[in-house]
Amino acid sequence: MTKNTVANLLAKDAVLQDVELKGWVRTFRANRFIALNDGSTINNIQCVVDFEQFDEALLKRVTTGAAIHIKGTLIESQGKGQSVEIQVSYLNILGESDPETYPIQPKKHSFEFLRENAHLRTRTSTFSAVMRLRSSLSFAIHKYFNDNGFYNMHTPIITGSDAEGAGEMFRVSALDPKNPPLNDDGTINYKEDFFGKETNLTVSGQLEAETYAMSLGKVYTFGPTFRAENSNTSRHLAEFWMIEPEVAFMELDGNMDLAEDFMKSVLNYVLEHNLDDLKFLEQRLLDEDKAKPQAERSDMALIEKLKFVVDNNFKRVSYTEAIDILRDSKPNKKKQFKYLINDWGADLQSEHERFLVEKHFKCPVILFDYPANIKAFYMRLNEDGKTVRAMDILFPGIGEIVGGSQREERLEVLREKMAALDIPEEELWWYLDLRKYGTAVHSGFGLGFERLVMFATGMGNIRDVIPYPRTPQNAEF
Ligand code: 4AD
Ligand code: MG
Repeated sequence: MTKNTVANLLAKDAVLQDVELKGWVRTFRANRFIALNDGSTINNIQCVVDFEQFDEALLKRVTTGAAIHIKGTLIESQGKGQSVEIQVSYLNILGESDPETYPIQPKKHSFEFLRENAHLRTRTSTFSAVMRLRSSLSFAIHKYFNDNGFYNMHTPIITGSDAEGAGEMFRVSALDPKNPPLNDDGTINYKEDFFGKETNLTVSGQLEAETYAMSLGKVYTFGPTFRAENSNTSRHLAEFWMIEPEVAFMELDGNMDLAEDFMKSVLNYVLEHNLDDLKFLEQRLLDEDKAKPQAERSDMALIEKLKFVVDNNFKRVSYTEAIDILRDSKPNKKKQFKYLINDWGADLQSEHERFLVEKHFKCPVILFDYPANIKAFYMRLNEDGKTVRAMDILFPGIGEIVGGSQREERLEVLREKMAALDIPEEELWWYLDLRKYGTAVHSGFGLGFERLVMFATGMGNIRDVIPYPRTPQNAEF
């Protein structure tokens, strides 16, 4: 007897051999064919039982969702659709599943329904494929940085600083909400709180990663990130995972090169290692497409789309060029954009980003040199005095997937910027210290992990690529 998984049994040539397997029943057909899955692959293995050999009462308990233990012989399959199957000689029910109430029946369920059953949805082919891909991408990311001489750094999750200056943070406090200590003016006295100051869940590990880049050279963080913005969209989560590399002595061009090489490398990894799952998800999308009008169907199938990104250069376009393109575009002239583009300086909305990527360039786009006043305080000011060395990467079907920049390394310029935005120096004294002691050019970016998983799997809603999504009014499980 060997320790088997469905994946390694299916990879074997049919030879008569004794095997043993544990898994969950997907279907039990004609009192004879069990489709068994153990999570190791998208594919089920067919287990054939001879009903005369087994107790009828036992076979009744072989229902969808039940956990079973089988022993038998791996043989060349008699039927179509698989090369090998197991002739079952021993069958034991490890955990029953009541067919009356088990939510994951062998039929098509809506994603909304499955979100309400997120604790069981990975029992479906779609969600198990998505979560295997998610795991694989996570591994590929760590591998890429490790192979390229980066150190993994764990930035804090509880923080006293607001990296993005957006203020949309979740407060961390141990005070009694019913009876908090107050200052004379009636405001809450956080000096008496656990940390002796106001603290929040981090919106980005960047500022802390910068401190390490200025000693270890090349670092990255990959951790959970929290934003209390009330964005109920298919691309926003209140808790998401972000990958943030930070590199000393690297300018914006190097940052773009790094981001592009990195994204291509991790997508290529899943093309090489997760093809079964990708093929399944591709077919799912093709089937979904058939129900749509021609105009809404995708131009490329999933695998072709991933290969396209891996094989082609990202288009690099300045913000100023992008504004010109958008101003002269059809949807702008016909007033089809919700936010019309008239003047230089306008913030780009997702409708504009998607127009650039999906209609105009039809490939991933790196936009750079944005107006200073629509970007964060830490981005390096250009010589023109009005743009900063920012870059956003836009992906088809996703929009913004990466945001990054070259950082302002000049102490005086940074101080002026902070003063203009009313950011107190006392709060970021350590960040300013980096500019006092051995300052140097450095750059980095943040990749939204779930947006990458959306792209790689073709899933249309970010809630379906993270095990337990946290969104406004929802923190179940
Ligand atoms: O553009 P953002 O806000 O950049 C930063 O936080 C920088 N500190 C990164 C850096 O330079 N180190 O966020 C980076 C990426 C976005 O491009 C997007 O992919 C993702 O994080 N993201 C979200 N993903 C899901 N839900 C949200 N609410 C997100 N907000 C940002
Ligand atoms: Mg951004």
